[in-house]
Amino acid sequence: AKTTISVIKADIGSLAGHHVVHPDTMAAAAKVLAEAKSKGIIVDYYITHVGDDLELIMTHRKGVDAPEVHEVAWNAFKEAAKVAKELGLYAAGQDLLTDAFSGNVRGLGPSAAEMEFVERPAEPVIVFMADKTEPGAFNLPLFRVFGDPFNTAGLVIDPKLHDGFKFEVYDVIGGKYVIMNLPEEMYDLLALIGTPGRFVVRRVYRKSDNEIAAVVSVERLNLIAGQYVGKDDPVAIVRAQSGFPAVGEVIEAFAFPHLVAGWMRGSHFGPLMPVSQRNARCTRFDGPPRVVALGFQIKNARLIGPADLFDDPAYDETRRLAQTIAEYMRRHGPFMPHRLGPEEMEYTTLPAVLQKLQNRFVEAKLYEVKGPKVKTELLHE
Ligand code: 13P
Ligand code: 13P
Ligand code: MG
Ligand code: MG
Ligand code: MG
Repeated sequence: AKTTISVIKADIGSLAGHHVVHPDTMAAAAKVLAEAKSKGIIVDYYITHVGDDLELIMTHRKGVDAPEVHEVAWNAFKEAAKVAKELGLYAAGQDLLTDAFSGNVRGLGPSAAEMEFVERPAEPVIVFMADKTEPGAFNLPLFRVFGDPFNTAGLVIDPKLHDGFKFEVYDVIGGKYVIMNLPEEMYDLLALIGTPGRFVVRRVYRKSDNEIAAVVSVERLNLIAGQYVGKDDPVAIVRAQSGFPAVGEVIEAFAFPHLVAGWMRGSHFGPLMPVSQRNARCTRFDGPPRVVALGFQIKNARLIGPADLFDDPAYDETRRLAQTIAEYMRRHGPFMPHRLGPEEMEYTTLPAVLQKLQNRFVEAKLYEVKGPKVKTELLHE
């Protein structure tokens, strides 16, 4: 029998702004999942949070996109949001954009990453969960894990990894995807995923046998809602060891706190700081963006663990560097490139401010302005 792991998350409201999930809302969600477990819809679950995002980690036998499992997640979020409203939590029900559930949470506000596989005798899996950033935040680390031998020694020395991996890249605006083979198409892949707001690494497969290696939630909340309603705060699942990168190779990619979009009002670049579960809450300028990594073994669809992988002094220097970068970026105040560029700001409340200035401008054509010479459909639409 195949096993499925589904990580489905939503922001259903937070204690003190967008800082952290309230324990009572987690308890409400836990009740729904416990009932689903006793009914046999899911085999096991683990509930946690990163910042203001409630994270449901579930294992079952029903495959990806199973309506029953998505309904369990949806009901858990609904119950949690009910408690959030009772407690008057901030932005209660934030990511639940509709009341009409119809078999899948996709497009309704929550995000999901799911994969199905035949369990190996020992099946180590790492669940990454981030707050105050977007799905493309995983582009750089996943490239390094599955494509860069300076990160992953196994790509060079392990015959089972040596053929490389396939990356499925999803165009969140065009609604299409492309599969690229590494190492041979590395430069083309980078040409796409270097634009993480649009081209998101959605899945990674082992090239030799198409075995699923990683999956990322790709829901872009602002694109779904048509306006800024919070950041998409993504999740990812990565399999490790025995034919996949080692656990240490997977989490090594997070030792560099790269700049990601999100942070305050979802409108700023800041460093992605790997933190322990204990520090999975957002403070300074509603951040900085944070990521938690929980390691599990999956056995007969049961979740063994978790291990809190960034809860370790080995990541202290990464966090220190992240603080330094946070300080440096913050000093730019409202200026780009701390603040995001105009395309992303479209979805925020900035256009309303700019609108007021429209008729203050005085016509003054000092020179002829020509358009760019190269127009590619992928980059300009
Ligand atoms: P151990 O000898 O500690 O099992 O290490 C094995 C290994 O390959 C670590 O990367
Ligand atoms: P969340 O998506 O985490 O709710 O962030 C919203 C925000 O605007 C933080 O400043
Ligand atoms: Mg929030
Ligand atoms: Mg959040
Ligand atoms: Mg959010």
